[in-house]
Amino acid sequence: MEYKALIVERSEPVLSVTLNRPDKLNAINNEIISELLHLFGELRVDNSIRYITFTGAGRAFSSGADISGRGGDDPPDQYESYTGARQAQFLGHDFMRMLENMEQITISAINGYSLGAGLCIPIVSDFRIASEKAIFGVPETGIGIFYTWGTTPRLTALIGPAWTKEMIITNDFYDADKALSCGLVHKVVPHENLMDAVWELIEKIESKGRIATRMAKKLVNAASAPNIGDLYVCEPELVERLYLSEEPAEGGRSFAVRRPPKFTGR
Ligand code: COA
Repeated sequence: MEYKALIVERSEPVLSVTLNRPDKLNAINNEIISELLHLFGELRVDNSIRYITFTGAGRAFSSGADISGRGGDDPPDQYESYTGARQAQFLGHDFMRMLENMEQITISAINGYSLGAGLCIPIVSDFRIASEKAIFGVPETGIGIFYTWGTTPRLTALIGPAWTKEMIITNDFYDADKALSCGLVHKVVPHENLMDAVWELIEKIESKGRIATRMAKKLVNAASAPNIGDLYVCEPELVERLYLSEEPAEGGRSFAVRRPPKFTGR
């Protein structure tokens, strides 16, 4: 497959993936998701790749879901809108599960903004290394939506409920040092050393038993996600309820014209 929204570079045993929409801060659109899903499908049976790295082209890792055009003057049929929002969760859940369960070791090299859906890839990666320029955040409620794709329980497992609530309820942006102090990333390095730090980590893991490493990853994953099964059932319904309200459209409209949103709770 020829990738358009990704740059995919192979240097066995490493496959490097760069999200490649720099003019839109690598906002995640359907093209990025479908290209990544295709790539993951191939990598599941590719024994010559043992590491997958992720980073973003330009000044961002990813600014989150592509919200351009949301809540426009000509919104889609209301039923289509809320049904589609519910069903879109199935794809997000598949994406997260697939990435989380890749047999390769996955490493996110966070080079700039990593927001909302653009934080999902780091959250389910095995390792997160941040440039000192990295900025993390979950801005969803500020635009009238909430954090989905099964990411909230995973973020809670990673940094605990206190920091998770601060991130998702206040929408505060965390710089790299704060992300390190709350356990969101493993390491912060000077911007120009980001990829070197990734390669150093890979070299360290390369000397370990390959089968034992694969088993170890699976055991940690198995120990980390006890409640996600319940969430998969209810999250799409919560999303549909949200889209029955006026708030997601108001959030999208306000971003489009860069004005503060006016939420009424209806
Ligand atoms: N969806 C679609 N387009 C996006 C985007 C997103 N999530 N994030 C950024 N962009 C686009 C901007 O519209 C702009 O495009 P334009 O030059 O054609 O107008 C371009 O990327 C650069 O973004 P800009 O806002 O000018 O950069 P900035 O440095 O001033 O601000 C952010 C950076 C990340 C703070 C700001 O872009 C932002 O708040 N983005 C939305 C974050 C968000 O709510 N994500 C959804 C979470 S799921």
